[in-house]
Amino acid sequence: MTKTVQSERGRKMVTEQEVNKQKEFIQKVKELNNAKNLKYYILTMGCQLNENDSEKLCGMIEEMGYTITEQYQEADLVVFNTCCVRENAEDKLFGKLGELKRVKEQKGTIIAIGGCMMQEKHITDKIHESYPYTDIIFGTHTLYKFPEDLYKTILSKTKMQDVIDIDGEVYEGLPIKRTSNIKASVTIMYGCNNFCTYCIVPYVRGRERSRHPKDILEEVEQLAKQGYKEITLLGQNVNSYLIVEKWKEKGIDYQGINSFATLLRAINKIDGIERIRFVSPHPKDFTDDVISAIAECEKVCKLVHLPLQSGSTNVLKRMNRKYTKEQYLQLVEKMKKQIPNLTLSTDIIVGFAGETEEDFEDTLDVVRKVCFEQVYMFIYSRRVGTPGDKMPDQIPEEIKHKRFDRLKELVESQIESNNQKYVGTIQKVLVEGPSKNNPELLTGRTDSNKVVIFEGTSSLQDKIIELKIVSEHMWYLKGIIET
Ligand code: 5AD
Ligand code: SF4
Repeated sequence: MTKTVQSERGRKMVTEQEVNKQKEFIQKVKELNNAKNLKYYILTMGCQLNENDSEKLCGMIEEMGYTITEQYQEADLVVFNTCCVRENAEDKLFGKLGELKRVKEQKGTIIAIGGCMMQEKHITDKIHESYPYTDIIFGTHTLYKFPEDLYKTILSKTKMQDVIDIDGEVYEGLPIKRTSNIKASVTIMYGCNNFCTYCIVPYVRGRERSRHPKDILEEVEQLAKQGYKEITLLGQNVNSYLIVEKWKEKGIDYQGINSFATLLRAINKIDGIERIRFVSPHPKDFTDDVISAIAECEKVCKLVHLPLQSGSTNVLKRMNRKYTKEQYLQLVEKMKKQIPNLTLSTDIIVGFAGETEEDFEDTLDVVRKVCFEQVYMFIYSRRVGTPGDKMPDQIPEEIKHKRFDRLKELVESQIESNNQKYVGTIQKVLVEGPSKNNPELLTGRTDSNKVVIFEGTSSLQDKIIELKIVSEHMWYLKGIIET
C-alpha cells in the first residue's frame, strides 16, 4: 500500500472524521444494547502503555452501554488486551482463552482479543486453529476502531479480524475511563525506532510518532481541572518525543514546545498538577536539555527510570543499545551531579544470548555502583522474529535462573540499605487512600515512588502531605504525621 504524504492539517482532518465515525458506531451499539443491562470484563497484560490503551477501551465500551464486572463468567463481552514482550504472557492468554470456551457455549459471550500479541501472525493463526470461538481480533493500530468492529460482530454474528501492520495514525478525542482519580497516564508518543535485538515492540507497535503538543497540553489541563495531581507521560521511547517528526523543519511550533524537555517545562506550569513522571526513556536520547528540565522543574519527580538492560559493553552491543557500560555510568554521574536528590530505577535483562559469566559480573558491577532505588528484572525470553532469537550461544534456562537469583539477592540487599536512609526523614507523600492490606491505615507514595503506610483520616486522601518515616520494610515504609 502506498502512503500518501499529507499535510499535518490534512492528516488531522482525516483522523477527526474517523473518530467521529467511531462515535457514531458507539451510539449504534448503545441503541442495540439499550436496557439490556450488559456487562463487560477486561483483562490487561503488560506495560503502562497497554494499561492506558485499556482505559481507552473501557471508555468506549462503557459509552456503548456496558458496565464492568470482575467475573468473566457473567460478562456479555470479554476483552483481553495482550502483551508479547515476554513468553509468559502467551501462556496466560491461551490458558484464559481455554477457560472461556464453556462461558461462550453457555452465554454466547462476545470474545475480543487485542493488543501487541495480535500483531504476530503465528499467534493469530493459533487462535483461529485452537480457539475458533474468538469473535474479534484487533491489533495495536486499530484499537480506536473497536466500536465499529463490535457493531459489525453483533449485527452479522461473524468473526472479525482487524489487524494492520502499517503504522497507525494518532487519534484524538475518543472517550477514556481512568482507573484512578488522582494519578493519570498520558501517552505522548507511540511506537519505537530502536530495534533492540531482544525486543518485539518495534514490530508490533510500529515506528515512532508523537502526539501534537496542543493535544497533550489540553489533556493534562483537563486532568488538572478534574483534580488529578500526578501525571505519567508514556512512550515506548518517551524522550525521543518529537525527534523523528523534525518539528522545527516543518515550521510547527506550539507555545515553544519542540522537544521532550520543552514539553516537560510546559506541563510543569499547569496549575493543579503536582507531580510529573515519565516512562521509559532511552539512555542514548537522554540529552542535556532533558537533564536541566528535570533539575529545574519542581514538579518533575526526582526518581528517573533509566533502563540499563545489561552492564556489559559486549552484550549492549549485541542488544543494539547504542551505549557502553562506561557511557551509561557517565550519564548517571552527570545526572546525579545536576539533579539534587536524584534516585534511579532501571530494567535489566538476565541471560541474553552470548552473555558470559564475565558479562553478567559487569551487570552486577553497574548495579553496585549506581545503587538503584528499584530494579525491574527480567529473564531473557526469545521472541520469534527478533534478531536475538537467531543469535548463537543462547543461555540454558538453568543458568539464566541462577544469574537472576544472584541479581535479585544483590538488588534486595541494596533496597534494604536504601530504605534505611529514609528512616527519620520527612517525605512528601501523595495520599492514595486506604491500604489494601489494612483498610484502617492510609497509603501513599513519596516523590521516589516508595509506598508509605500511616494512620490518618480520609480527609487526607488525594492530598500531598508531609510524613516522618519511622520504620522501613522491604516493600514499604511506615510514616507518622508530626504535629
Ligand atoms: N525478554 C526479557 N525481557 C524483555 N524486555 C523486553 N524484551 C524482552 C525480552 N525479549 C524487558 C526490557 C524492557 C522491559 C519493558 O521489558 O527490560 O525495558
Ligand atoms: Fe524495545 Fe528497545 Fe524500543 Fe524499548 S527502546 S521498546 S526495549 S526496541
